[in-house]
Amino acid sequence: RSLGFRVSVELPFSSSTMAAPSTEIFHATATAPVNIAVIKYWGKASTKLNTPTNSSLSVTLSQDDLRTITTASCSPSFESDALWLNGAAHDVSNARSQACFAELRALRKAKEDKDQSLPPLSTYKLHLISENNFPTAAGLASSAAGFAAFVRAIADLYELDESPTELSRIARQGSGSACRSLFGGFVAWEKGSRNDGYDSVAVQVAPESHWPTIRAAILVISDAKKGVSSTSGMQATVATSTLFPNRANTVVPARMDAMKKAIAEKDFESFADLTMADSNSFHAVCLDTIPPIFYMNDASRAAIRVVEEINRCAGKKVAAYTFDAGPNAVIYYDESNQDIVLGALRKGTADVPGWTEKQPHITACLPEGFNEA
Ligand code: DP6
Repeated sequence: RSLGFRVSVELPFSSSTMAAPSTEIFHATATAPVNIAVIKYWGKASTKLNTPTNSSLSVTLSQDDLRTITTASCSPSFESDALWLNGAAHDVSNARSQACFAELRALRKAKEDKDQSLPPLSTYKLHLISENNFPTAAGLASSAAGFAAFVRAIADLYELDESPTELSRIARQGSGSACRSLFGGFVAWEKGSRNDGYDSVAVQVAPESHWPTIRAAILVISDAKKGVSSTSGMQATVATSTLFPNRANTVVPARMDAMKKAIAEKDFESFADLTMADSNSFHAVCLDTIPPIFYMNDASRAAIRVVEEINRCAGKKVAAYTFDAGPNAVIYYDESNQDIVLGALRKGTADVPGWTEKQPHITACLPEGFNEA
C-alpha cells in the first residue's frame, strides 16, 4: 500500500467449532492526520456532490500530533451501519455518510464480481469506531481527519486498490476538506470542471520531504464546539456576501498559482504573505455574510498582533497565521526560527484576557510524510 497508515486486516476466525459464518467479523484500522488549509475552501458549487466554488491548498500535519484513528468492521451478524466517535454513537443516516458507504461498497462489489472467491463484504453492514486526539468540531479540521480515516479504513477493510486521489473523490463527499487528508505533505484540492464532480479531487503538490523544515504551532484558544458549522456558514456566505464572487473567481485562482510557486521554491516569505492574506480574505467574507459570521475572537486577534510583531522585529516574514472556522490559531514557521516564534508566542500571549494559565496550549506540529507510491 502506498500510504503510511497503520493498517491491520484480519481474516475471520474459521475454526469449525467456534465460528459459524454469521459471527464472522472482518476489520481494518487506519489513521488520518489533520490538514490545515493555507488557501481556504469556503463555498460549495454543488451541495449534492460537495464540490467547491474554488480550489484550496493545505499542509497535512503529523499524525503523531493531531489525528483520527478509525476501525472499520463488517459482519453478516451486524444489523445496521453504525458509527461511534470518541465513545458516543453518531448518526450515519445523513447523505454524506451514506454517499461514502455507497461508493466504497460499489468498488468492493466490483472486486467481488471479478473474483468470486472473495467474501461478500459489500453485502455486510459496517461498524466504525473512531477516536480523535484533539477537540472535535472546534475549527481544528476534525471532519477532515474524520472522513479521511473513515474512507481509508473501509477501503483497507475492502482491500481496494484505488489510489489516494480516487479515494479523495469519495472522502470529499463526506467533508470537503477530508479529501486533502488522504495525502501527506502539501496538498491541493482542485475544484474540477465537470458537472458530476469526477475531477474534483485532491493531488499532492509536494511531499513533506520537499520542505521538511516547515512547522505548525497550534494555539488552542477554545475547544468549545463552533457556533456556525462550516457547511451552513459557507452556504450563507455564497448566498449573501457581495465580496464572495471576487474571492472565489479571481483572488483564489491567482493565489493557488502563487502558493504552488512559493512551495516549489520553498519561499517562506511568499508562503507567509499568501497564507495570512487568504485567512483574512476568508474571515472577511464571513463578516460580509448576512447575518455576519464571527469565527475569530479577541484572543485570535491578539495572536495576529503577536505574529505581526514577530515579523516586524525579524525584519522579514518568519511566521504566518491562519484561522479556520473557529478561534484557534495555526502559526506556520520554519524550524530555523522555532525559538524566536514559539518564544514570542508564549511571551506575547501570556497576558491576553481569555487565555488563562493553562491556555494557549501551544503544540508544535511536524508535517506528515507518507511513503511514496
Ligand atoms: C474553513 O470541509 O468542514 O476549514 O465540506 O461542509 O464538510 P464541509 O466543510 P469543511 O470546511 C472546511 C472549511 C475550512 C477551510 C479549509 O479547510 O479549506
